[in-house]
Amino acid sequence: MKDYIIKDIELASWGEKEVRLAEREMPGLMELRKKYGKEKPLAGAKIAGCLHMTIQTAVLIDTLIELGAEVRWMTCNIYSTQDHAAAYIASKDIPVFAFHGMTEEDYNSCLEFVVNKDKTFWPNMVLDDGGDLTKHLIENYGDYFEYENIPNIGIVGITEETTTGVLRLKEYEAAGKLPVPAINVNDSVTKSKFDNKYGCKESCVDAIRRATDIMMAGKVALVVGYGDVGKGSAASLASAGCRVIVSEIDPICALQAAMDGFEVCETNDAVDRADIIVTATGNFNVINSKHFGWMKPNAIICNIGHFDNEIDVAWLNNEENAVRTNIKPLVDLYTVKDTTCFGNRKKDIILLAQGRLVNLGCATGHPSFVMSCSFTNQVLAQIELCNNAEKYEDKVYVLPKELDEEVARLHLPHLGATLNTLTEEQCKYIGVKKEGPYKSDSYHY
Ligand code: NAD
Ligand code: ADE
Repeated sequence: MKDYIIKDIELASWGEKEVRLAEREMPGLMELRKKYGKEKPLAGAKIAGCLHMTIQTAVLIDTLIELGAEVRWMTCNIYSTQDHAAAYIASKDIPVFAFHGMTEEDYNSCLEFVVNKDKTFWPNMVLDDGGDLTKHLIENYGDYFEYENIPNIGIVGITEETTTGVLRLKEYEAAGKLPVPAINVNDSVTKSKFDNKYGCKESCVDAIRRATDIMMAGKVALVVGYGDVGKGSAASLASAGCRVIVSEIDPICALQAAMDGFEVCETNDAVDRADIIVTATGNFNVINSKHFGWMKPNAIICNIGHFDNEIDVAWLNNEENAVRTNIKPLVDLYTVKDTTCFGNRKKDIILLAQGRLVNLGCATGHPSFVMSCSFTNQVLAQIELCNNAEKYEDKVYVLPKELDEEVARLHLPHLGATLNTLTEEQCKYIGVKKEGPYKSDSYHY
């Protein structure tokens, strides 16, 4: 019986061809298949996954299955699904609930389908991106966690992909409400310092170009937030020739931005100068109703953070003085009242992806290679919790540095990079072992 909700199963062979191409750029995942394909360390794992259903994620899902897991999957965003990737997964009889452009109601239904279909699939592991599935399970299926010590019945662990999801996990932990151990994949160095930064460096401008075809060179771009995603996004815009302004709340990140050569000022002081505005904070309402009226005519606004509340899109869609004209899917023009000193005139501003992650809504997300780094961490985290959950308390952990370094090591040959080897004397001199780890936990990279 059909156990999927996707756009079109006919897209499967296109999806498969792109998956084969992506595999060539995902050496970490392919190496894990070689290393663990026979041993099957994920045998018995029933993973409920909630993560953007892209081509790269299809390679992750294939890897989890090759290592022995049973998997049900849903997208973690209503606009991020690549329908040919979802079709490829469905064609392999893997239950998948994902199509591009679903409604919020569809999304909430998928949260049910991914865990509770006919009660025949009880997940014992969660792989989440943003925490929606974790929240759904904790709030509605607390009993899924109660039997964690009985093999194959209760959920024994959670692995979380992104900054915003980790924030939620830590809130549960602080409130004593985290029911099982969780691994924070985001804070592996080979995740956040690569996917969030170098990934956005490629996918931020890609999305704005695909959506608008605007000439980037010479434009003024404002990046709100200069964490890992903001750093990547600012670099992306700068390398396209934009003059970049950054706004921050954190003096350390603001100083980094200034010393990277960017103008740093308050959002309020930059919003009327920007042709392009990108939010990257993981916070809410950083671009709000007062800002729209101050913007330059034809300003492009988008968000690359996890949730759509960084920009007050609800105001744009509900305010009677903001008239929406759809240009094409996920590109909307809003005619709003000008509230600058020029007074009483109207102007157009352009919103991408309805304020949802622009790189996944208007483009295809990060490239395969950097996703291989992230997803190699995901698979290692799943293996660890699936086999050793009882060794952990109900807290949020990161993978050990040895594994982080191993993920990097697996990706070096693909780039033709080789490493020096320490001599015994050098090991003693800097106090590290020949095989690593090479840095203390407090090193910031
Ligand atoms: P981060 O914590 O490293 O950076 C966020 C930055 O925003 C911080 O430096 C913080 O000081 C700043 N900030 C917070 N509120 C602000 C405000 N009001 N004004 C200005 N700056 C403010 O987090 P990150 O890893 O960069 O992630 C940011 C968001 O992007 C998260 O929601 C994360 O889940 C998401 N993310 C998206 C992608 C993607 O592909 N689109 C990839 C990774 C992470
Ligand atoms: N997050 C950012 N880019 C992604 C991609 N290509 N696939 C899955 N998750 C992503």
